[in-house]
Amino acid sequence: MVPVVLFSGILAASLPILQLRAVVGEIFIHELERDGFQDYFTDHQEPTADPPVTFHANLLDHPDLPKWLRYTQRTPFQTGYLYGSATDKEVGTQTIEVTAYNRYTYETVRQTMVISIVPSPDGEMPYQADFFVKNWNVEEVLPTEVHELFQQAVDSMWEQEGLVMVNISSALDRGGRVPLPIENRKEGVYIKVGSKDPFTKCLTEAKSLENRYWCKLEQQPVITCYDSFSPRFKVDWCNLTLIDLTDVNSTEMVPIYGDGVLEPGPEFNPPDDAPDRVFFYDFLLTFLLPLILGLLLCLILAYIMCCRREGVQRRDMKTSDIQMVHHHTIHGNTEELREMARGRDVPRPLSTLPMFNIHTGERINPMQRSRHDSAQVPLILAQQ
Ligand SMILES: *[C@@H]1O[C@H](CO)[C@@H](O)[C@H](O)[C@H]1NC(C)=O
Ligand SMILES: *[C@@H]1O[C@H](CO)[C@@H](O)[C@H](O)[C@H]1NC(C)=O
Repeated sequence: MVPVVLFSGILAASLPILQLRAVVGEIFIHELERDGFQDYFTDHQEPTADPPVTFHANLLDHPDLPKWLRYTQRTPFQTGYLYGSATDKEVGTQTIEVTAYNRYTYETVRQTMVISIVPSPDGEMPYQADFFVKNWNVEEVLPTEVHELFQQAVDSMWEQEGLVMVNISSALDRGGRVPLPIENRKEGVYIKVGSKDPFTKCLTEAKSLENRYWCKLEQQPVITCYDSFSPRFKVDWCNLTLIDLTDVNSTEMVPIYGDGVLEPGPEFNPPDDAPDRVFFYDFLLTFLLPLILGLLLCLILAYIMCCRREGVQRRDMKTSDIQMVHHHTIHGNTEELREMARGRDVPRPLSTLPMFNIHTGERINPMQRSRHDSAQVPLILAQQ
């Protein structure tokens, strides 16, 4: 019981319900001010301390936000934002629950906000331009004063009334990459602006053949009427998308939804005049062919194993036979060696001859006993 009481006691701190309004086809931005929540944190040990605060936002009784709404906060020391652009499907009311966490004390404060999503009185803007601004992050553009500055810049090149911010989204949500943490690089942000009036020549110039050629060479086209943006907003003119909704055949675009129930009709009757199909030959092909092949392989293997075995006779030889074979081979090898030696016509080295005197160089044929045969020379010469 105690944890439950404690838990509900912590969650009891909540702000009054907020009523908000979002228009279909227009950007909705709600700031989550840290100051507004800080006053409700009960733990006021140090009133001067500025605790880090993070937020969690979700659709009431759901784990996450509705698809059209996004939440962003760069660091716990900065303002959080709920932003997004509702579509026709979301018309109605949605209840969003925001929980603020004090990252020092882990206290939480809740706020419930009811967003009424109403259709746009003017309908969808038929002419839309999607700008890619390279030198801003999404949460930097969301404060009113910044995106109004951008709107003024667009205003001055697209002379017309009633410009509407349709959508603001981070480049990261559209396949962009997190930049390297050098040189103050930014993620980039896409800002979509809509109008009832057609695009001016200045705006369509970015899509001219010549400029497309420059873009292919990765160079920005230089057009003077684009100067209203710089240096504050670096717009990638090669990445400008112009959407002309009047061009598109509206009947093709809008899918017609039924009530989800099939119209009553007659029962399905399977056709009964389907011709009989003969599967016998398919059967033969699939069963007999592999069978015959298998049998053939079996027979070949059996023949090789039983009748063509090498060394069958030798394996049954007796030991004496083996010895005889052994003897025979030794004999044969010796004969062969002798044959080879006879074939040599180089004289034998003298030192290998038995009767060679190394000191005198004299050679004696051992077969012919000469006078000098040492055996006949008396060892002690008698005094004659
Ligand atoms: C707004 O931009 C986000 C991010 O690219 C996209 O998912 C969403 O569909 C856009 N909304 C409208 C109404 O165009
Ligand atoms: C627009 O910019 C993004 C991010 O830099 C890039 O990935 C994309 O290819 C660009 N699109 C065009 C048409 O240049």
